[in-house]
Amino acid sequence: MTNRTPKQTLGLDANGFIDERKLPEPNIGTAPISGERYYSEEFMQKEWDHVWTKVWLVAGMEEQVANPGDRMTFDIGKESLVCTRDMDGKVRVFYNVCQHRGNKLVHEETSKGKTMACAYHGWRYKVDGELASVPSPEDYPEGNPCGKLRLKELRSEVCGGFIWYSMNEDVMPLEEYLGPVYAQIQTYDLKRFKRTHWITVEGQFNWKIVQDNFNESYHLPFVHPSTKYVMEQSYKYCQMDVFEKEGHARMFMPGNRPSLGLKGGYDETLKQMQHYFDFWGLDGEDFRSDPHSIRAAMQKVKREKGKEKGLDFSGLTDDQLTDHYHYTIFPNFSLSLRPDGAFFLMATPHPTDPTRCYFDTWYLNWFPDGTTEYYSAAMFETVSWDTEVPHITGLVGEVACGKVIDEDLSVWTTQQKGLMSKGYDGGYLTGQETRVRFFHEEVDRYIERGEAAANK
Ligand code: FES
Ligand SMILES: [Fe+2]
Repeated sequence: MTNRTPKQTLGLDANGFIDERKLPEPNIGTAPISGERYYSEEFMQKEWDHVWTKVWLVAGMEEQVANPGDRMTFDIGKESLVCTRDMDGKVRVFYNVCQHRGNKLVHEETSKGKTMACAYHGWRYKVDGELASVPSPEDYPEGNPCGKLRLKELRSEVCGGFIWYSMNEDVMPLEEYLGPVYAQIQTYDLKRFKRTHWITVEGQFNWKIVQDNFNESYHLPFVHPSTKYVMEQSYKYCQMDVFEKEGHARMFMPGNRPSLGLKGGYDETLKQMQHYFDFWGLDGEDFRSDPHSIRAAMQKVKREKGKEKGLDFSGLTDDQLTDHYHYTIFPNFSLSLRPDGAFFLMATPHPTDPTRCYFDTWYLNWFPDGTTEYYSAAMFETVSWDTEVPHITGLVGEVACGKVIDEDLSVWTTQQKGLMSKGYDGGYLTGQETRVRFFHEEVDRYIERGEAAANK
């Protein structure tokens, strides 16, 4: 549970629950969203200079460096970074660069040990970044570098089971950067969500195509037709907000019931809900005549039996017990929260090519207390706590990201092609795509601010 305090916390109500009130609509324009933003190398460079190197980003899950001496490497654009847990238990993130003559220090994605040795001339660093030993220490005209040089460290914080970092030395604290989102996402017991799926695909599309997609649900009836049986598809019955000051957004989408506009097809609703009925001891047949009542019944039974079933929902509102609370966090990831799990979806830029990016799908499951096996509804399979989670990588189409996300992926490559065409004229957006436009305006605000500061 979040560190709830009696006093009101930003983003929470007086009782410590998510403040679900609709936020004011942002003042946004109607300017074209140019195709160039998705393929120009110049624009990519501006994003690197003024967005990527200025914001907070997610490195990985805290469990990846669970023990002192654990480390993991990852890339962001042209940088390779290494994250360690030092021998005192502190999580740290460094540029993965040897201070001798710049060789990449750690090559494996995961490794372990008290020190990290450079393969070139054998400089050896402790996991807290300190240079521990070098060959021929007497042969340095400027003196022995040990005790003098360290790996270059980045700002980092651990929050909600995620490791966050920033390449901006002057970045504001993470709590301030996330604003109300900081406390709201932590109403879920995220530290107890365990990653059970980790897939990274390299795609032929700009990273913003991914964030655009997760910033709207207008595409649901066409890209994800089968979701209408168990979740709301119409914007009219969802709540969409932007956090204007911080640049993030959220959407509350009712679940555990068919879309309000759906007539018939209830067999499919009951089928998709079956594992929940079984788990919570409900009989699906009781809802055959009115499947829209499932949502209220699920909220009731979860509230009554949550603790006994090993899922303490006491920090969640009734709506959170059945609905999808979807946060898009600037600049590059979304967290789609269900009461017993979450999608973490993140796009990171390619080092040099604006028309390519890396897209991560993680699914995190909240295993009920005392269980090591759980049915992951979002991934349509039973998952085990004890299974080592492989990092699956490949090109789009080569590896699967799960049914729903594969459906999203199916349009991104073709959209990139269209955005690069002379035939694309800058778009024409619905009201429910406000978050898409807001996101682009936020990118522009970062660039404008960065350029203004550079020209001072
Ligand atoms: S570059 Fe690392 S030891 Fe020389
Ligand atoms: Fe989608």
